Amino acid sequence: MTLPVSDYPALWLRDNCSCGDCVAPGTEQKLHGITDLAPDTRIARVEEHEDAVVVVFAPDDHRSRFTHAWLAAHRLDAGSGTRPADDRSEDAKNLWQATDLADAIPTGDWPTFQQDPVARAAGLEALLRQGFFLLRDVPPTDRAVLTVAESFGYVRRTNYGELFEVRVEDQPTNLAFSSLPITPHTDNPYRDPVPTIQLLHCLVNAAEGGDSGLVDGFAAAARLRAEDPAAFDLLARTPVTFRYADAATELSATRPLIGLDPVGRIREIRFNNRSMRPIALPAEQIAAFYAAYRRLAEILYSAEAQLTFRLEPGDCVVFDNTRVLHARTGFRAGGARHLQGCYADLDGAYSALAVLRRGSLESNGAA
Ligand code: OGA
Ligand code: ZN
Ligand code: ZN
Repeated sequence: MTLPVSDYPALWLRDNCSCGDCVAPGTEQKLHGITDLAPDTRIARVEEHEDAVVVVFAPDDHRSRFTHAWLAAHRLDAGSGTRPADDRSEDAKNLWQATDLADAIPTGDWPTFQQDPVARAAGLEALLRQGFFLLRDVPPTDRAVLTVAESFGYVRRTNYGELFEVRVEDQPTNLAFSSLPITPHTDNPYRDPVPTIQLLHCLVNAAEGGDSGLVDGFAAAARLRAEDPAAFDLLARTPVTFRYADAATELSATRPLIGLDPVGRIREIRFNNRSMRPIALPAEQIAAFYAAYRRLAEILYSAEAQLTFRLEPGDCVVFDNTRVLHARTGFRAGGARHLQGCYADLDGAYSALAVLRRGSLESNGAA
């Protein structure tokens, strides 16, 4: 269906002209800024063509061509204009409970993932939609986790190094490096920007216990919103400070437990009981905050929410650290257990997936 050009404000159309004077040829980069366009830009004339319209603007007399397909893809009515596409927000996700995925954990094997673009796209698609995927047959060797991260993105080096060793230490500064159970959490909430992808690669898991859990934090927040909208709002509006310190490091970041995008959709979960600092709120609001925080924790820790599985040597789980919380059960202190972990970021993974999809669209006849 052809939309009348009058559905689109003149200045918006003028700003989106894609002619060679407005966009540098061979790029998608605009050559003008807003101050180059007249504030009183208006449509002087419209010429209708078979598959496009040509608009002549006043006062600059500029001619722009817009295809009907482009106009239809950029409608400004309620359906799209008020809920912009954002791969990071809850609208772009398949929310899950443990039972939805218990027999359907998105799983690939590393040799195929490396060789086959279709398998690689499927893994990255699972990361984007479900928030994680599991790779098997990653050689259980030192630094292999970095090779996995580099296959779809860029390793984020931190104070823990390029990678971190998850094994029992004598004097752990982080409880991950002990044999204690760890409840569902997101990593490094004390960092801004937070690492948006985490990988955990199992080298040894011979200990009794030490099973893994994953929880969809977006699903948990959505459940809280449905049950108790005031509690959800309070958690979305209350800044919380997280902190980590050791002999060489002092990190802190202040963000809400539930991060919303500008139109109110769930976009980021930060949840880590270990590194939360005292909540700063007027005293009379503290009880309500704790009740809301407790309810979100109860949902996150519930058996329905938590997908449990056991990492075997060679397994590598890759997850969205802004959405999916991870956990492990405690294990016998003497037991052998060793994971290597590293961080990466979603922008690189989304780019890798977009380029893979571009390849599949062009594979008809392209060499
Ligand atoms: C971590 C962590 C879980 C595990 O290192 O961030 O949460 O399975 N580890 O040991
Ligand atoms: Zn132009
Ligand atoms: Zn962790």
